[in-house]
Formats: sequence, C-alpha cells, structure tokens
Amino acid sequence: MKRFSLDKRVNLVYQRLLKYVTPHWRVLLFSFIAMLFYSAANAYVPFIMRDVFEILENGIKGQGLYLPFVILLTFAVRGLTDFISIYGLAWIGRRVIRDLRSLIFMKYTDLPSRYFDSSSVGMLVSKLTYNTEQVAEAISNALVVLVRDTLTIIVLVGAMVYFSPLLTSLVAITTPIVALLVSMMSKAFRRYSTKIQTSMGDATRVIESAVSAHKVVKIFEGQDYENKKFNKINKANYKMNLKLVATVSLGDALTQYTVALGVSAVIYVAFSNAASNILNAASFMGFLTAMGMLLAPLKRIVNINLALQRGIAAGESLFEIIDEPTERDDGHIESKKISGEININSISFTYDKDKGKVLNNISFNIRAGTTVAIVGRSGSGKSTLVGLLPRFYDVDKGEILLDGVNLNQYGLKNLRRQISLVSQDIMLFNDTIANNICYGGLSSLPREDILKAAESAYVMEFCDLLPNGIDSEVGEKGILLSGGQKQRIAIARAFLKNSPILILDEATSALDNESESYIQRAMTTLMDGRTTLVIAHRLSTVEKADLILVLKDGSLVESGTHQELLDIGGHYRDLHSMQFSV
Ligand SMILES: Nc1ncnc2c1ncn2[C@@H]1O[C@H](COP(=O)(O)OP(=O)(O)OP(=O)(O)O)[C@@H](O)[C@H]1O
Ligand SMILES: [Mg+2]
Repeated sequence: MKRFSLDKRVNLVYQRLLKYVTPHWRVLLFSFIAMLFYSAANAYVPFIMRDVFEILENGIKGQGLYLPFVILLTFAVRGLTDFISIYGLAWIGRRVIRDLRSLIFMKYTDLPSRYFDSSSVGMLVSKLTYNTEQVAEAISNALVVLVRDTLTIIVLVGAMVYFSPLLTSLVAITTPIVALLVSMMSKAFRRYSTKIQTSMGDATRVIESAVSAHKVVKIFEGQDYENKKFNKINKANYKMNLKLVATVSLGDALTQYTVALGVSAVIYVAFSNAASNILNAASFMGFLTAMGMLLAPLKRIVNINLALQRGIAAGESLFEIIDEPTERDDGHIESKKISGEININSISFTYDKDKGKVLNNISFNIRAGTTVAIVGRSGSGKSTLVGLLPRFYDVDKGEILLDGVNLNQYGLKNLRRQISLVSQDIMLFNDTIANNICYGGLSSLPREDILKAAESAYVMEFCDLLPNGIDSEVGEKGILLSGGQKQRIAIARAFLKNSPILILDEATSALDNESESYIQRAMTTLMDGRTTLVIAHRLSTVEKADLILVLKDGSLVESGTHQELLDIGGHYRDLHSMQFSV
C-alpha cells in the first residue's frame, strides 16, 4: 500500500516535470532522432570487425581497402549524433532549470512572512541551488542514458543474435548474476549517498554558524568546540565516501568478472563446436565486439537509476514550494489617496496557534496626521502590532481600518505604498548607499530627490567623509557602516518614499550623542504631517506624541498623553521611571 502511494507520488512528479519539458518537443524529437542514428552506428561496429576478420582470414591483397573509410564515416556519424543528443537534452535540462529557478525565486519574494518563520534560510537557498541542479541532471542525463543506451543495447543484442543465437543465449545465462550484483550495488550506493548528503548538510550548518558567529567564537574561546564538531562530521563524511568508492569499484570488478565468465563460456563452446562450423572466426569476432560494447551502456543504465531517484526527490521538494500559497491579495482598491486615519477594532493575533496570544483584543484610533507612541516591555508585542498594518501578518480576530476601509480591501501593493517602515533591525542590500536609499519602487526617482532625502536624513554628514560619497558600497547587510549610519539610510528611504503613514520601530541600542541628535532631528522632520506610529525608547519622542499606548503582555493596558498617564500612576509610570530616568 505504502509502495503504491510512493509510486503514485513519483508518477505525479514525473508528469509535472514532463510538463516543463514538452514545450521543447522539437529539440527532444531532434535529439531522439540523433540517438537512433547513434545506436545504428554503434550496431554497425561489430559488422565492421567481422568484415575485417573475414578479409584477414581469406583475403586477397588490396581487398577491403574501403573499410578504413567506412570506419571513419561510422565514427563520424557516431560522434556527431553523440554531440547532438547530449547537447540537445542538456539544453532542455538547463532550460527547465532556468524556468524552475525563476519560478521559485519569484515565489520566495511572494510567500507570506509566516512561511519564512518556519523555514531555514539554508534550506531555502539549497533548494534553489542544489535541488534544481539534481533535477537538471535527472532530466538531461537520465533521458540520454535511458533512451540512447536502451536503443544501443537492443541493437547490439540484435547483432549478437544475428551472429549466433546459441552463443547469445549462453551469455543471457549470466544476466541474472549481473543483475543481482548490480541491484546489491545500487542499494549500498543509495544508502551511502544518502548518508553523505546528510553529513554534507550537517557540515554546511556547522560551517555557517561558526563563520557568521566568528566574533562569538573568538570571545568565548569556541574554536576547539567548533573544530571538534566539524571534524566529527568531516571524518564521518570521509569514511562514507571511501565506503561508497569501495562498493562501486568492487561491484564493477565483480560484474566485469561475471561477464568474463560469459565470454569464456562463449569461447569454450565456440571452440568445441569449431569442427561443426557453427560460427566462423569473423562472425565470432563480430559477436565478441558487440558483447564488449554492451558493457558500457549497461553500466550507465544501472547507475542512472540513482540519479533519477535523486532527481525525483529533488523535484518533489521544488513542487512543494511552487504549490505553497502566496500572500493573500484579493483587495480591489488600487489607487486611492489616503489621509491616514487608522481604526483598530478589537484585534487579536498569534504567531503560533499552539502558543498564547501575542496581541489580545486591542482597540484604538489614530487621527490622520497625528503621532502615536507605543511603549511597553521587551516582548510585549509592539513590533508585532505595527507589523499588522502593512499586512506582514493578518489578524486572527477583529479588523484594522485604513481611512474607514478594511485593510483586506486594498490591493497589497497599493496598501504597502502608503506605509514607510523604519524597522528595528535595518536591512541593507549589498549595494551603494544611493541605491539602498532608492530601493525597489523608488529606483525611478530622480537623483536630486535621492540627494535631498539623504540630506534630510543626515546621511550626507557621513557620506562626505567617504571616498565615493553617496555612491560608496555598504557591504554585505551594510557591514561597512555603523548602526547609526544604517538607521539614517533607512530614514532617508522613508523620506524618499514620502508616504502618508510612517512606522518607526526605534532601535533599542543606545547611540552616541551626536548620532542620536541627528536621528532625532531627522525623525522629527520626517514625522511632520504624517500619521506616525512610533515604538519609542526615547523620552523626547514619547513626550511629544499625541497619544501613548501602553502594551503589557499583548494587551493594551493604558492610553493617553504623557501627563495623563503619569497622573494615573500605573504601568506607564513604572516603565517611565525605569526606562527614562537617567
Ligand atoms: N516571527 C515570530 N514567530 C513567533 N513568535 C514571534 C515572532 N516574532 C515575535 N514573536 C513573539 O511575539 C512576542 C512579541 O514580540 P515583539 O517582537 O512584538 O515584541 P516587542 O514588543 O517588539 O519587543 P522588543 O521591545 O524587544 O522589540 C514575543 O514573545 C516573541 O517571542
Ligand atoms: Mg520589537
């Protein structure tokens, strides 16, 4: 039963892969025709050998001088069709991979945030690079081998039967032994290669974490620990690889020996029957040649099974991603000038259904153009709350209205165009400062606008000290810049986007006074005239806010102005005296 469902699954993957191949049927057909000629050329070689021996045996001088030319021609056909079939199928394989890769990359940019919470970056990367490669291999190599080598085997066996049905049946007796050896070999091969793949995955993980956490490794003397962890995996991997090589080469040697047994039997019978003239020497040579030529395609067909299985498994994992639902986007409001009024009506939210609520029955209203500060302890749900506005996640209960309309009614792109976000952990792309400011939808804006945004966010203050100014590279994830500089670039992005709603998730880390004052001034200008939600850690921001929301364990416990909340003398005052009393 289980086997059946597995077969069915494999079939499904096959069919779906085939769908990507069928548009290229012309190339496929051309390659198949080339394969036919290739097999025919192969089948002709034993006959050439026979003719050579016939002439050697009882030839007259000068006879058979055409044979070298026949050989050249046969091998020219063989070489050309070899090239055409391999190139043609590789072309199809690479094409399919190109298509699958773009499809999956596009999917990665469209998947909901929830999907990324439950998957590792390493896995997503390896699917796009490694798994697709295995599918390509299965498509091109497996097709070449399966079609071409099967054809070749058929015609060669045909030639053997033509030369001597008796000897052919004799060789056939050794087939079960070879088949048994081969199946034992492939089982071991599969076992070892799976283990190798797993150990490679483990190795990648250890390398990744040791390299990216190199500072932690240094300061906590983690070198020995990491080295030990890696060497254990490295050693296991080395052992498995040696076992794999041993299995394959031993299996090969045994197979060859079994075939030698067949050949010896053939020669024995041929010689003992020589008197009865079953077979002349020339036909015997033809027979042996055909038999010898059978070995290579047979071996390939056996081994391709493994590549096929790996390819199918890889294909399955790719289709899983392709079938994954993208972000819900069925709103119809595509272009609407938004004033920026926000109503939050008894919303609840949880990341994980099994765990408790992260936000619990929260309601509040924000008038257009005003500033709301959200305060609360670490983990109280502040970042989660503001992340619901651009619909990184959808609420479980309740509703969020923007200008009186439910968020779901807006087209996702349109909705996100209304919101600028300066988040807690700033992500920069490995590009120049300028290109980081005019990222994505902003890239078509004129250079003056970028410079102006950079000016307003005090990015120019440090750009002027860099050799290439605003066109300096920021490095991987902005590693070449300081925390405060990265923040200012993020603020410049928001200036350039110029959207009616602004979300500021202030970084908790303290900055030096100069940076702090730059950022403070930049944010104040930026907030002007926009509906702003600011997760505030700075006293000045909090005091100036029109409304302060106090979150505690996912619930809204107090709201009001700074003075009102101080007067109540509740959670806010506690927070205030802890956080802001320096
Ligand atoms: N992607 C996620 N998946 C699952 N749980 C999450 C996720 N992000 C946050 N949480 C959990 O939700 C809760 C609220 O987190 P949130 O980031 O909103 O807190 P916060 O108030 O912004 O804290 P901080 O002041 O430290 O930034 C925390 O308990 C956190 O563990
Ligand atoms: Mg946060």
